[in-house]
Amino acid sequence: MKAVILLGPPGSGKGTVAEDLKESVHFEHVSTGDMLRSAVKAESPVGLEAKSYMEKGELVPDEVIIKLIEDLLRAGSGDAKYMFDGFPRTVRQAEMLDASLAGYGSRVSAAFLLEVPREVLVRRICGRRICRQCGAVYNIHTKRPAVDGVCDQCGSTDIYQRPDDNEETLNNRLDVYEQQTASLIEFYDRAGVLVRVPAEDRLETEEKILEVFHTV
Ligand code: AP5
Repeated sequence: MKAVILLGPPGSGKGTVAEDLKESVHFEHVSTGDMLRSAVKAESPVGLEAKSYMEKGELVPDEVIIKLIEDLLRAGSGDAKYMFDGFPRTVRQAEMLDASLAGYGSRVSAAFLLEVPREVLVRRICGRRICRQCGAVYNIHTKRPAVDGVCDQCGSTDIYQRPDDNEETLNNRLDVYEQQTASLIEFYDRAGVLVRVPAEDRLETEEKILEVFHTV
């Protein structure tokens, strides 16, 4: 089993990078945010529990996330390769991942830290729009669909703004990142797997990650 991590604040481009890498690296993209949003939509027990935390920009309790990931790893094969996006977010989640990987004689190969100034994050997140049908991601400042309001990929006209992508909730998400997730930078630095990636230019970000990816 192999695992790499995309680490960084909201809007640093974790989901975008994962999308850009999918042609070149064959690691399964696992976004806990996407898993939780699907659970909320399905009104499953996990979704019902997660909804209020997500709406406020708070972290969903570790127990819920740990169960989601343990189930995923258990269902996968021993030679699976995962690219985690938005997980882990606390030291407890990171320790759980280490323990699970150790069970397969493995460890985290690389933790890519996407670094972007805060003012850029705010502009990106408040400008993000998503196609409800196929999940394609747009931005009103930098990446509009060719025809306004129509998804380039699937033609749907249901393009929406995530309920937690407003300035007030975003400020809380950024504070939560500083308070609860930024400690993972030191965690993975100490483990010798942290790779800092300047993430303002999409192409340069992808190239820098690929340089390291080919060695893991
Ligand atoms: P989650 O969905 O993980 O949200 P997040 O971490 O806040 O990250 P985002 O998806 O907002 O940003 P991103 O870095 O992927 O940026 P993107 O590529 O889309 O989590 C949501 C919630 O779920 C959390 O608040 C929490 O409640 C809960 N949760 C999830 N995981 C959890 C866990 N492990 N533990 C506890 N709770 C958990 O890019 C953003 C925008 O910028 C887009 O419009 C994009 O087009 C644009 N953009 C990206 N890169 C560039 C670039 N280089 N140049 C120009 N524009 C760019």
